[in-house]
Amino acid sequence: MSLYDHSEILAAQSALSDGNLIHLPTETVYGLAGRADRIETVARIFAAKGRPSTNPLIVHIADLELALKIGHFDVRALKLAHAFWPGPLTLVVPLKDEAHVCEAARAKLQTVALRMPHHPMAQAILHDLEFGVVAPSANRSGRPSPTTKEAAYSETGAHVSLSLDGGACQIGLESSVVAVLPSGISYLRSGAISAQMIEEVCKEALMPPEDEAHRSPGRLFRHYAPNALLELECLLPREGDVYLSFGPVSAEVRDQSCPILVLSATRDLHEAAHNLFDMMSKADAMQPNRICVAPIPHEGIGHAINDRLRRAAGFVG
Ligand code: TXA
Ligand code: MG
Repeated sequence: MSLYDHSEILAAQSALSDGNLIHLPTETVYGLAGRADRIETVARIFAAKGRPSTNPLIVHIADLELALKIGHFDVRALKLAHAFWPGPLTLVVPLKDEAHVCEAARAKLQTVALRMPHHPMAQAILHDLEFGVVAPSANRSGRPSPTTKEAAYSETGAHVSLSLDGGACQIGLESSVVAVLPSGISYLRSGAISAQMIEEVCKEALMPPEDEAHRSPGRLFRHYAPNALLELECLLPREGDVYLSFGPVSAEVRDQSCPILVLSATRDLHEAAHNLFDMMSKADAMQPNRICVAPIPHEGIGHAINDRLRRAAGFVG
């Protein structure tokens, strides 16, 4: 059975062409999508999210041909695109043609972020469009990213003319963001594609992420935050907390008789990434004193999980 209905794809394409906003399912998180070349559309996205105008958006495309019209890809960027597209990698490259991406979408930068998602519904919608589609995560600014249609709808449903259901996002964390500029390659946001995977393809050492000049502007804001206090690396929750566990739950934890949501019973980091935002939102809905999260190993996609958790807990930068 097909994952989607063709009439929905056509409706999504026509809503986008008309300059309207839709909820776009991708393999990472749900996006709040609109055409990149329309100032009014882009302004509606920033307003719906309450997003600072200094935080640029990612332009989504379905084929390399359009990407090459929008951005300047050198040999290293092309290698990365060939290795990881379609997939959860965003490439920041020098802007080639201003006409495709209005200034507000780029937060006035002369670089542009491009991503080719591999979710079949996103592919089908973006395919054949003659314009790029900006799609920030569909949450209101600062809140956890939605990984289901329901979560997207409860965040920004009032602003879309169509909210598509592409199922629960397979990865559950936003794309890795990598800048490929004449000055070097830098890893700006961690995700399913690790810094090591990037280095292996480029055969070039990455610039240190501490380099302020090459930071992703979005890194400067508080992100992913639930309403409840978030306690990290927690081994023993207290009464009134909700516990997000990783691996088998100890008898001591069970004795605390607080609700437990299991990120992964088998210590599978991909499963934990897939569940993270959904469980954080579910825990928050229980209005606990605190959301306590078990230690998550700093390896593979565990780096990205820990990055999101630290930001959700209020550590910025
Ligand atoms: O997985 C994803 O990337 C999702 C889905 C919907 O595709 N989208 C997403 O968009 O996470 P958003 O807007 O929530 O995050 C975009 C990130 C921000 O940290 C922003 O600062 C960075 O990309 N970014 C965009 N353009 C940039 C640029 N020209 N230079 C540096 N960073 C840029
Ligand atoms: Mg976001």
